[in-house]
Amino acid sequence: MRADELRKKYLEFFEKKGHKIIPSAPLIPENDPTVLFTTAGMHPLVPYLLGEKHPMGKRICDSQKCIRTGDIDDVGDATHLTFFEMLGNWSLGDYFKKEAIEWSFEFLTKELGIPLERLAFTVFKGESQNNIPRDEEAAGIWQSLGVPKERIAYLGREDNWWGPAGNTGPCGPDTEMFYWTGEDAAPKVYDPSDKRWIEIWNDVFMQYNKTSQGEFEELLQKNVDTGLGLERVAAVLQGKSNVYETELFVPIIKKIEEISGKPYQGNEKPFRIIADHIKVAAFVLAEGLVPSNTGRGYVLRRLIRRAVRYGKLLGIKDGFTPEIAQAVMKIYENVYPELIENQKFIFEELGKEEKSLEGPLDKIKQYKIDLLAARDQGLSKRIHDAPILSSPGVASGWYVYENYQSYGTPPELSQEVVKELGLRFDQEGFDRAMKEHQDLSRTASAGQFKSGLADNSEQTTKYHTATHLLLAALREVLGDGVQQKGSNITAERLRFDFNLDRKMTAEEIKRVEELVNQKIKENLPVICEEMPTECAFDCGAVGVFGHKYADRVKVYTVGSEENICSKEICAGPHVTSTGQLGVFRIVKEEASSAGVRRIKAVLE
Ligand code: ALA
Repeated sequence: MRADELRKKYLEFFEKKGHKIIPSAPLIPENDPTVLFTTAGMHPLVPYLLGEKHPMGKRICDSQKCIRTGDIDDVGDATHLTFFEMLGNWSLGDYFKKEAIEWSFEFLTKELGIPLERLAFTVFKGESQNNIPRDEEAAGIWQSLGVPKERIAYLGREDNWWGPAGNTGPCGPDTEMFYWTGEDAAPKVYDPSDKRWIEIWNDVFMQYNKTSQGEFEELLQKNVDTGLGLERVAAVLQGKSNVYETELFVPIIKKIEEISGKPYQGNEKPFRIIADHIKVAAFVLAEGLVPSNTGRGYVLRRLIRRAVRYGKLLGIKDGFTPEIAQAVMKIYENVYPELIENQKFIFEELGKEEKSLEGPLDKIKQYKIDLLAARDQGLSKRIHDAPILSSPGVASGWYVYENYQSYGTPPELSQEVVKELGLRFDQEGFDRAMKEHQDLSRTASAGQFKSGLADNSEQTTKYHTATHLLLAALREVLGDGVQQKGSNITAERLRFDFNLDRKMTAEEIKRVEELVNQKIKENLPVICEEMPTECAFDCGAVGVFGHKYADRVKVYTVGSEENICSKEICAGPHVTSTGQLGVFRIVKEEASSAGVRRIKAVLE
């Protein structure tokens, strides 16, 4: 079964069970300051898991684009990917364990025809200190479907608990499904430590909210959040031992073979890294992200840099990343048209970035030569006071840091070189040097790698509403052609990108500020309505250009019938009246990328 068929079958199956299909949310979450990328299907749904009403109802399903950068060191093995698609079905306070488990079982064994003999299951073993019981209920449901006791394992928080994605938020015990990939028949008794069992699906029973005090309080509504790994299951159904042998990767692998003149066999690691990383790059570039030195842009830069380095190690000529991206686009052209729609931008950005990496990659080459000389000949080079080896067999973290600060030698690639030469890396020394010197912003964005969800604090809610007022004011001052190109909110400020091919004048900036402040002074009501997406557009609501919407959406209107100030399709949350916002001030207006301006503004 091809991945396309699997995706379709899954969505149709849950549609028949009363679920509404919603489109994938973007990889770059809007207005979520604490997370870099969407890492699971539940991310964009957090408000609804916490009780807000979803416009599509209580049962929804989708195929969500996800990025997990935490797994980056594992990329290159058989199952880990940075970009993957998660098929998911949700109950938002509707069905619970019984239906979720029964449908998972039905889908796996009937729709996909996976024999029960090849499946095993895990459930949560309970936690007395938090008063969370052993999940006999889930185990009992599996057994009622014919699963033998020996194929069910009870595991702890490490394995069978999901969330919250940040420090606080919805979470709960889960039950996971495993597939036997061994050559022989699966053992009768399930042994969770046997790596031939691979996880294919996770049903999370989200019934708790972790509070900022670290307590688990019961949610008013019980939710189900599931995630089935599309790439993994496609591989399983095709009898392939790993995801890179499915049609979601083979065309990319073939392309790399063609342009490197090297076979995949024997070179799996570099091939897989290039294929995975350029795939991610293409998808986030399609959403308008560009490589930079902070936050998301820095993740993108590192991914491209790593791919280019492995390309060079394979001896591929310069300027190859757009060719790889093209192979990616072909695979997904019918599912994610945003790739083709933005192909010119993607090719240009990849080409530019690849070119700009020549310097840093030469520096890495030199580091490898110096490190080799230190290891084999005892020639210890120093930068400032830092020696290249901190002790025999250990590469100095301090040196790697100085080499980065002074010469721009990429630290993550330095660490890779250290590993390649069989040396240990003095991480502590590196962290110490970082801490001593690093500027605040980098530290802040490193924190985001751990990922987390926004606490919808009062302040971010205010910024959400201020963003709507800002867009309305920009359209009034600069014309209706102005569209949102990006938005990012923290508790300290809002950041808003929009199309304009020139700098705003000082008068225009002042006028926009005044307009927003006037609307705040008028203390206009903010009203939320739910409606079919068509109606929303018909009544003039503004959406984000190129954004895919579900069939029903929420529309926030600022102002009253006679005096509508803004009408936008938006998931919220918002304040109830503009008077709560305070004083609005634009602190910066600058270029963001070609034809796009960026405004940073605060509420005081
Ligand atoms: N949120 C769950 C996961 O990502 C389904 O595994």
